[in-house]
Amino acid sequence: MMTNDVLNAIRGRRSVLRFEPKPVADDELEAILEAGRWAPSFANSQPWTFVVVREENAKRELGQLVERIAFAHRGQFAVSGKGTGDAPVVIAVVLDPVKDPQHWVEAGAVATQNMALMAHTLGLASYWAGLGGKSEAEARRILGIPRGMRVVALLPIGRPAYTPKDGERTSLSGIVRYDRFKV
Ligand SMILES: Cc1cc2nc3c(=O)[nH]c(=O)nc-3n(C[C@H](O)[C@H](O)[C@H](O)COP(=O)(O)O)c2cc1C
Repeated sequence: MMTNDVLNAIRGRRSVLRFEPKPVADDELEAILEAGRWAPSFANSQPWTFVVVREENAKRELGQLVERIAFAHRGQFAVSGKGTGDAPVVIAVVLDPVKDPQHWVEAGAVATQNMALMAHTLGLASYWAGLGGKSEAEARRILGIPRGMRVVALLPIGRPAYTPKDGERTSLSGIVRYDRFKV
């Protein structure tokens, strides 16, 4: 298969749940947010707000929340009890369904992925924690989200404290069909 910077970044990004206690530099954070800003959205509605959380108490609470819902990558690190609150920054992806009633979820997803990829190319790592139901309610409380707005993802970002296992994906032949959906 051909090699390409974008493809390498997409393939190389892994979810990481423990971070070094080193800050994310302002210009790195700005580049990550810029990648989110340039995500596509329905009719360019841009229904997102990115809440950058660096304040310790809020970050710890969000970290504990991520810890509770992060089941997929446990076992790859020694449990410290601190949760992803040790990430120097958490970005909460907030959407306004009034600005885009039909596709706000996708808008949030594509902005989150852009930011996760940008972080990865800067040598940082992240953990995409999807919210809904109780976890979203808790994030709303911690962040003071206005009524009507939705929080779809928390993205803790920092320098990875461990090397994650290789990623796994189904082969292309397992997920691609040509011309018709043949089973
Ligand atoms: C929309 C979305 C929601 C996610 N929510 C969770 C979650 O609630 N808990 C969790 O453990 N991982 C969550 N993840 C992270 C996935 O588990 C992870 O991306 C997947 O296992 C693939 O691993 P990789 O990111 O290292 O490639 C979520 C990822 C996405 C895209």
